[in-house]
Amino acid sequence: MSQTETVYLDGNYTQKNEAKLSILDRGFLFGDGVYELVPIYNRHIFYVENHLKRLKSSLNSINIDSSIIDDMQIIDIIKDLVSKNNYINHYIYIHISRGVDKTRNHIYAKSGKPTVLIMGESYTPFSKQDIKKGKRAICEDDYRWLKSNIKSTSLLANVLIKNKAYDKKAYEALLIRDGYLTEGSASNVFIVTNNVIKTPVLSNKLLPGITRKFLTDLIKKYNIEFSECEISKDDLFESDEIFCSSSTNPVVPITQLDDKVISKEAGQVSMTLYQHAQNFIKEFQS
Ligand code: PDD
Repeated sequence: MSQTETVYLDGNYTQKNEAKLSILDRGFLFGDGVYELVPIYNRHIFYVENHLKRLKSSLNSINIDSSIIDDMQIIDIIKDLVSKNNYINHYIYIHISRGVDKTRNHIYAKSGKPTVLIMGESYTPFSKQDIKKGKRAICEDDYRWLKSNIKSTSLLANVLIKNKAYDKKAYEALLIRDGYLTEGSASNVFIVTNNVIKTPVLSNKLLPGITRKFLTDLIKKYNIEFSECEISKDDLFESDEIFCSSSTNPVVPITQLDDKVISKEAGQVSMTLYQHAQNFIKEFQS
């Protein structure tokens, strides 16, 4: 993101290098807030209703009044940012913290005014060649809190885990809680066994990914065999294919997990779904 890009902060459009927040903002002091990350394809906002619905649900879960900003306002701000910054393919980051308190205090003021930040970030999705080659992942204990369904800005555990993967030259860490797969440090996870695509059932232990929803919509549309079920660590290691999903890269095949080679390159089912996703996005943006 360039310093001169326009961002939205608390009712004002300002340049990124001029946007300032109080040190008493609870988002800064406590990670007390929630966020969304929405892809923009050729200036169009992808799956926006789903993202805004999840944002509302995250706000309600942490007792921030979700009526402080309505969907149409957010959509208008995103459109303004897209046009002011001439975004073509970017993502939009929406961050709502509980706002600024008078003192640093675990107990929040019920009447506080939330801070709203909306800004764009550029990113380069993996090329088809990269996708075909596949990525490495590691397995890690899921030691995060038990409200991982909330898209909270308190991401310390995710950050530490993702960096552990990065240091091991892996794209992602797949998280295991009590012997079962939950999700990745910044993605949802799917496996393929005997041509059936499987992913963990939604619960408090994982984020209801919007790309997960997008992919399950495609899976239904193309009548691909699918199951939402519990996936043990053994199931994961014995699967034929693994892939991760997130708003920045809808389908990322994992070809090696720790020392185990899952497949020489991305499997056929993963590549088919990747192609369906690419085709849908192409049509969506035209
Ligand atoms: N993260 N699970 C976790 C823990 C995530 O952080 C993400 C996305 C997902 C996938 O969600 P979605 O399909 O809605 O992007 C699952 C984003 C990309 C981030 O934090 O930057």
